[in-house]
Amino acid sequence: MTMTFDFSGKNVFVAGGTSGINFGVAQGFARWGAKVVVASRKQDKVDAAVQGLKDLGAEATGFAFDVRDYEAVAAGLKGAVDFFGGSIDVLISGAAGNFPARLMGMSPNAIKSVVDIDLLGTFHVMRAAHEHLTQPGASVINISAPQAYLPMAYQAHVCAAKAGVDMVTRTLAIEWGGDGIRVNSIVPGPIAGTEGMARLAPTPDILSAVEKSVPLGRLGQTDDIAKAAAMLSSDAGAYISGVVLPVDGGWSQEGATSVMSKAAKFMDKMTGQGS
Ligand code: HXC
Ligand code: NAP
Repeated sequence: MTMTFDFSGKNVFVAGGTSGINFGVAQGFARWGAKVVVASRKQDKVDAAVQGLKDLGAEATGFAFDVRDYEAVAAGLKGAVDFFGGSIDVLISGAAGNFPARLMGMSPNAIKSVVDIDLLGTFHVMRAAHEHLTQPGASVINISAPQAYLPMAYQAHVCAAKAGVDMVTRTLAIEWGGDGIRVNSIVPGPIAGTEGMARLAPTPDILSAVEKSVPLGRLGQTDDIAKAAAMLSSDAGAYISGVVLPVDGGWSQEGATSVMSKAAKFMDKMTGQGS
């Protein structure tokens, strides 16, 4: 059965939406009829993503900014609502950085770079977007990660930052509920063909072990995340707010912890960082 939604007449903004999971989410909303704006740091990635969305028949544009720069984020969101000619119905915030390193293998600036992109960037996108969100009616989705609630060696920066992201989600569900804005997190499992998996499962053997560790027995597809975002943003999600929703084939129940622990042993050998 082909899953379909109707977002015609809706305006969707995807921060960090030019590759991987977030671009897959942008493509989903484009296919389902929305006007879509994507943003990330690199103009060439923005241009390619916008072309990809137009190829699906969507009205689309994009902006190049770094989520660590509040004024640039605010300018990009203002540009988006000018393009839309109206408010933002669906806001996806998913810009993130990740590299595997034990804490003692990270400089203070390395820690700061990930916390600033993932957590401070989420604060910036939320704060700058609020005045542009459809009130009542907007759906806000932060893209989190299993690291938010599962400790993993080589991931202290991401674990802390994404835990923070989910608490931003849950707090804004309270603060913005009165404006008629729903705020949720989606926690993707291991998604095939993405930068995140290339960094955390860097060999075919580790990737195969990850796949086997998922109770549903397969890696996720970006479209799995797009469909969950659409469900949360459709009328089906009208009473859902403050939820941290794993979309992971059951991975975070058990498999994520055991397989990432094995991956950490491999990384110890590769990097010499093991204790
Ligand atoms: C230790 C490292 C490092 C590494 C970078 N650094 N890589 N330290 N081990 N492997 C250090 C640098 O030396 C520097 O510190 C500091 O981090 C900042 O590096 P820059 O390259 O100057 O930063 P910047 O250009 O801002 O790039 C940010 C980045 C980069 C996070 C480092 O990798 C990036 O742009 N990533 C975006 C794409 C990405 O990561 N996608 C995957 C998301 S997946 P010093 O002290 O030398 O200045 C995800 C979850 C996946 O989030 C979950 C799967 C289950
Ligand atoms: P990705 O392709 O690297 O996506 C990251 C996006 O964020 C890119 O569009 C990137 O574009 C942008 N970005 C990075 N730093 C930015 C910054 N400082 N300012 C603005 N934009 C920035 O990675 P992915 O693996 O698909 O991950 C996407 C999201 O899913 C992330 O939030 C990640 O934590 C989450 N996640 C991924 C997995 C997985 O299996 N891959 C699992 C769980 C959670 P530019 O380089 O142009 O800036």
